[in-house]
Amino acid sequence: MPIEQMCTIVEIAKLNEYAYSFTLEVGEMVTKEGLRAGQFLHIQCGEGHLLRRPISVCLCMEDAPHDTARIVFEVRGEGTRWLAQRQVGDKLNVLGPLGNGFQITPEDRLLLVGGGIGVPPLLGQAAYTAKKATAVLGFRSADRAMLVEDYHDYCKEVYLCSDDGSMGRHGFVDAQLRDILEKDKGFTAVLACGPKPMLKNVAKVAAEYGVPCQVSLEERMACGVGACLGCAVQMADGTMKHVCKDGPVFDAKEVDWNV
Ligand SMILES: Cc1cc2nc3c(=O)[nH]c(=O)nc-3n(C[C@H](O)[C@H](O)[C@H](O)COP(=O)(O)OP(=O)(O)OC[C@H]3O[C@@H](n4cnc5c(N)ncnc54)[C@H](O)[C@@H]3O)c2cc1C
Ligand code: FES
Repeated sequence: MPIEQMCTIVEIAKLNEYAYSFTLEVGEMVTKEGLRAGQFLHIQCGEGHLLRRPISVCLCMEDAPHDTARIVFEVRGEGTRWLAQRQVGDKLNVLGPLGNGFQITPEDRLLLVGGGIGVPPLLGQAAYTAKKATAVLGFRSADRAMLVEDYHDYCKEVYLCSDDGSMGRHGFVDAQLRDILEKDKGFTAVLACGPKPMLKNVAKVAAEYGVPCQVSLEERMACGVGACLGCAVQMADGTMKHVCKDGPVFDAKEVDWNV
């Protein structure tokens, strides 16, 4: 059940020129409301009548007197620019937990595929499966890389790719994914988060190798709770679903990749 509450920022780190990591005190949102990585928080960004902005949970922790949640965001426009100007000790108006998150068990052997700002929500999945996961992280260029050390802490193996060749393998994550799946048939699921063209290619490769694939979709959002139809996406069976309420995570086979 989503609740609205004021959450204090207890830690801020700048991950690169564009991305910030905030740790928030979220009351009992983890302990009582079951908040977990891959779900999202709808954060009021600004004092005026700016809409809330959806930001995924990267990691969260049960703690007393306050549970904590880590979010990572890039500055895109007015809302995220306002967010980036907050200081430790400031309070944010947060609505959450929202969305469904990934369906996994601690026994899963996950192949995580993240692109750009899609990298953070997968970190919590690596943490949950304790050093069993393999991660493929793609960035436009080396200066946009983030959380690489954190992934090394939580994963068995980490592969890096960049669009311009300035870091790791030169090229897109789906080529690396194909090489891994060709050699290793033991993965129980592929989880992917990133831009839609990347997700489409990842879903295609996972299907070729017969590995179940879950994707986290991004759509522009308004209400965040299924009330405004703002975030509707087309499904393969012709129905429409809400990214905020039915997702953001979907079985890749459910999604209509041709729209
Ligand atoms: C479920 C979900 C989880 C998300 N998690 C994260 C996260 O963990 N970290 C993060 O940095 N961002 C995340 N986003 C994207 C983030 O919500 C947007 O970047 C943010 O709302 C932009 O707000 P703004 O006011 O700064 O920019 P605006 O002025 O609203 O927009 C700036 C630019 O970003 C584009 N944009 C805005 N919202 C989206 C969107 N949802 N998808 C694609 N493009 C968009 C606009 O078209 C425009 O070009 C997530 C989005 C969703 C739907
Ligand atoms: S954002 Fe309003 S229905 Fe999803």
